[in-house]
Amino acid sequence: MRPRAPRSCRAGGDGGLRSYTGLVTVPLPIVAPSILAADFARLADEVRAIEDTADWVHVDVMDNHFVPNLTIGLPVVQSLRAATPLPFDVHLMIEDPRRWAPGYADAGAYNVTFHAEACDDPVALAKDLRSAGAKAGLAIDRDTPIEPYLDLLPSFDTLLIMTIKAGFGGQRFIPNLLDKVRTARQHVNAGHLELRIEVDGGIAVDTIADAAEAGADAFVAGTAVFGADDPAEAVRRLRSLAECAAPRA
Ligand code: DX5
Ligand code: ZN
Repeated sequence: MRPRAPRSCRAGGDGGLRSYTGLVTVPLPIVAPSILAADFARLADEVRAIEDTADWVHVDVMDNHFVPNLTIGLPVVQSLRAATPLPFDVHLMIEDPRRWAPGYADAGAYNVTFHAEACDDPVALAKDLRSAGAKAGLAIDRDTPIEPYLDLLPSFDTLLIMTIKAGFGGQRFIPNLLDKVRTARQHVNAGHLELRIEVDGGIAVDTIADAAEAGADAFVAGTAVFGADDPAEAVRRLRSLAECAAPRA
C-alpha cells in the first residue's frame, strides 16, 4: 500500500491503526471514488487521475431492475481491470446477485458487494465470493433496517450502508441514516469483527466528518471527486477530513 505522510490528527506510532474505543483498533479510512460520476468516454484516464491518492475504485453496477438506472457491467470491469492497479470495489445494484456476483470476483474485483434486499441467502453468496478470491460485501439500502443483518456480519468483509436511496449519483446525503452506521459500529467493535463499514451517497467535504464520527471507515464519493476541478486533491481532502473526525480512544 502507498506510504502516507503522518497527519497531526492521527493517533501516532500505531503503524496505521487508530484505536477507536481503547479495546479495538480499526484501520485508517479508505476513500473509494465512484466512477459513476466520471466521464465514461475517458474512464481509464479518469481512474489514472486518482491512482496516487485513492484506495479503491468504486464501480456501480446497475441493472434497470433492482434500481431504475442502468450503468455498466462485466465487460467494462474486465477492460478497466487491465488499466489500473487500484483495487476495485464493485457495488452490485442488481437482481439475482447469486448469478452474477462471482463473475466480478473472477474478473479480479477486490471486493464485491451485493444488496441484502436482492438476495435470499447472503451468507451462501458471501462464501462463494470468498472462494472466488474476493472480499464479500453486504449493502443495505435506505429503507432497510440493519438489525436483521447484524448476525450475518462475520461472513462479510465490508458492510455498505447507503446514505441515499440506491440508484443515482449526485443525491443529497441523508444524515438520519448514520444511525445505522452507529449501530453497526457498536456491533462490530463489541464482536471484534474485522469489517469495513462503508458509506455511499452524498459523501463530500461537508458530510464525511459526520459519517466518520458515526463509525464509518470507508467512504464512497462520486460527485465530490470526479466533479471537482482536481479529483486527486479532492480525495486527499476527503481522507484528511475523515481521519481527523474518526472517534478516538
Ligand atoms: C448510487 C451509487 C453511489 C454513487 C454515489 O446508488 O451507489 O456509489 O455513485 O454518488 P455521489 O457520491 O455523487 O452521491
Ligand atoms: Zn455505490
